Formats: sequence, structure tokens, C-alpha cells
Amino acid sequence: MLKQKACRPFAKAGPCSLLAEACSLTMKNLGILLSGRGSNFEAIARNIQSGKIPNARISIVISNKAGAGGIEAATKLGLNTAILPSKGKDRETHDREVVASLKEHKVDLICLAGYMRLLSPWFVQQFPGRILNIHPSLLPAFPGLEAQQQAFAYGVKTSGCTVHFVDEELDHGAIIVQKTVPVLDSDDEHTLSARILEQEHLAYTEAINIVLDGNYEIAGRRLLRKIRASN
Ligand code: GRF
Repeated sequence: MLKQKACRPFAKAGPCSLLAEACSLTMKNLGILLSGRGSNFEAIARNIQSGKIPNARISIVISNKAGAGGIEAATKLGLNTAILPSKGKDRETHDREVVASLKEHKVDLICLAGYMRLLSPWFVQQFPGRILNIHPSLLPAFPGLEAQQQAFAYGVKTSGCTVHFVDEELDHGAIIVQKTVPVLDSDDEHTLSARILEQEHLAYTEAINIVLDGNYEIAGRRLLRKIRASN
């Protein structure tokens, strides 16, 4: 299979290992986009605070919905927030406002965390390989809305969640992390969704660390971790 060089903005560059060391110590700015309650955002924020996501900070939390619980939580945490309503605007006009805010806050990596809006191709092209999304199913099964309900209704015995790079197609880019969740006979859609959400909170942190670490390549659709040479 043809091995493509991944667009790896966080990969260690150059031959000099001291330079690589310095790169890895650089603080990276995360930009969070959300539309709702923001539990994934809160898990990321908690894990930054506790050091589980080292060398990163959240430089802006943006919502396209005024009443989003995630914005309230971000405000309480003292983070920069912006509400940029999408209603009534065409996709690219709104995306230009969002991208301007992300650039103003010098965002290195964008985390979609329940952002209920498709990004325009133009938006995706502004941050190649630097936009992540979390989806509550084992992609490619059950893309789109209400993934947990889709899985439950289909009768699968195992579901889960996926963190993936965002590309121009819906719920489609290369997969970074997946976590499985068994569907129990005693489950209903709500209990299943709740157990998937617990795994989402773990998966997003893992994926962010993999991407910020930069020690991977993309071969076709496959993200492959590189083995570090030990000194
Ligand atoms: C999560 O289930 C996520 O997978 C999906 O939207 C939901 C957002 O939940 N993309 P929260 O706002 O992070 O609690």
C-alpha cells in the first residue's frame, strides 16, 4: 500500500533532536467547537488541568448556539468563549467568522465536541490534519445524527465511539481512537448512550495526545503509531 506522508503539524521536524525536544515542550492551543451540553469539552478541560493532556491549553471555546451548556461551563472555568450564531447564515459565511476567531486565538488543534454543524470544505482546508471530531458509534457504522439510537435499533451487540480527523465528508476522516461498548440485553437507548459517553471522555484525551505528540503517519486511511527509538 502506498504510504502517504501524513499532514502532521505536531510531528517532530528536522534532524536535530534538541529541536525536536524543544518542539515537544511547546504549549499547543486547542480550540473547542460545541453546540450543546459540552461534557466532552469538560473532560478535555479536566484532563488538561490534571496533566493528562500535557503541554496544551484551551485558548477558545466557540458555540454556534447561544444557550449551550458548554459555554456556561467554559465561562465558569475562566476560559475565552465566543458565541457565533449560525442560524440564517450560509455555511461559509459562518465558517469564516469561526475560522477568524480560531486564528485570532492562535489555535493549533480544533476539537469538535458535539458541534452540530457540518464544516465547509473551505474551513477544513484552513486547518489540514488539525481538526478532530468525536462520534458516538464505531465508524463507519452509523454516521450522522442519533448514532446511539441507530445502533440500538439495528440490534448490534457491540457499539462504541470513534475519534477521527475531519475531512470534507461527514464522519469520514482517518480514525485515531475507537473504544467499544457492549450492548446489553438490559440496555435502552439512554443507558447505552451513557456508557458510550463515558468511553468518549477517555477516547478524546487519548486521541488528542496522539495527535499532539505527532509520532504517527497516515497510510491510506490507517493511522499508524511510530515506534520511538530508545536512547
Ligand atoms: C457526543 O455524543 C459526541 O459523540 C457527539 O455529540 C455528543 C456531544 O456530547 N458528537 P457533549 O456535548 O460533549 O456532552
